[in-house]
Amino acid sequence: MELVPFLFFFFLTTIVATIQASDRSISHQIHVLRPQTGSHGRHVPGISCMSWRLGVEAHNILGWTTVPAVCERYVGNYMLGHQYRQDSKAVTNEALLYAKSLNLTKDGKNLWVFDIDETALSNLPYYARHGFGAELYNSTAFNAWVLEGTAPALPESLRLYSKLMALGIKVAFITGRGESQRRITEINLKFVGYLNWEKLILKNTSYSGNTSVVYKSSERRKLEESEYRIIGNIGDQWSDLLGTNVDYRTFKLPDPMYYIN
Ligand SMILES: *[C@@H]1O[C@H](CO)[C@@H](O)[C@H](O)[C@H]1NC(C)=O
Ligand SMILES: *[C@@H]1O[C@H](CO)[C@@H](O)[C@H](O)[C@H]1NC(C)=O
Ligand SMILES: *[C@@H]1O[C@H](CO)[C@@H](O)[C@H](O)[C@H]1NC(C)=O
Ligand SMILES: *[C@@H]1O[C@H](CO)[C@@H](O)[C@H](O)[C@H]1NC(C)=O
Ligand SMILES: [Mg+2]
Repeated sequence: MELVPFLFFFFLTTIVATIQASDRSISHQIHVLRPQTGSHGRHVPGISCMSWRLGVEAHNILGWTTVPAVCERYVGNYMLGHQYRQDSKAVTNEALLYAKSLNLTKDGKNLWVFDIDETALSNLPYYARHGFGAELYNSTAFNAWVLEGTAPALPESLRLYSKLMALGIKVAFITGRGESQRRITEINLKFVGYLNWEKLILKNTSYSGNTSVVYKSSERRKLEESEYRIIGNIGDQWSDLLGTNVDYRTFKLPDPMYYIN
């Protein structure tokens, strides 16, 4: 069962690689998937791309708008190669071990929060066509991609989701996508294997002007003030995880392509 979304993910990223084969600069990034000392060693002012990525993941480097141009190729190789998937797996394995270690009260109130973009779903087919985050974010183009409803699942997140559900844990999605994208988001989630959820919370226009940290933490607070007990939270952005109500473990998936406050 789990093989299907897994293959689907690779299928799509392969298509992207094939489509881009005519674009010399990008196909070069995609086809050279072996570790490249050359691109690892490329320099962002003062540091290598590898150190830049570590700084980003550790939240030492923050508030950045685009991947440094010299690191586009490095990030592309990372995202399409094995390392991104292995790093993701290391995160979801820990999340599952943690969930299994909990002595859960069987009252149906246990809830696990999932982010959507670059967590439940992967927009890698889009970002592969847009410089892996080296291009300035274009909301028109990105929203058009979202409305296609064809984002593959991040296989590691789908596996975690299934295992949590099997443990009797409920799932809530909290996403920065707007209410206007609710229907296509539901379709996309179901299409790739996320069949059930307790809540799908999209960003209401009442939050326009608020940071993601403010939006997401206040939605988590609302959940906890109602009937739920949040026991875990997973996302690719620090803003998915920071804020109030964090007396449970949080899990940071890799994402060197963009930064959201
Ligand atoms: C699990 O929780 C229940 C109810 O709170 C308690 O009776 C039981 O001893 C706990 N088990 C462990 C292994 O902590
Ligand atoms: C953003 O994307 C749209 C749709 O693809 C395109 O028409 C527009 O030129 C892009 N804007 C910029 C600044 O690249
Ligand atoms: C969005 O916010 C408005 C204003 O606060 C509120 O009336 C509306 O019910 C909210 N919509 C949803 C779906 O929560
Ligand atoms: C959202 O931003 C507005 C305007 O800055 C602010 O008044 C409001 O308190 C913020 N919402 C939350 C939940 O913090
Ligand atoms: Mg995300």
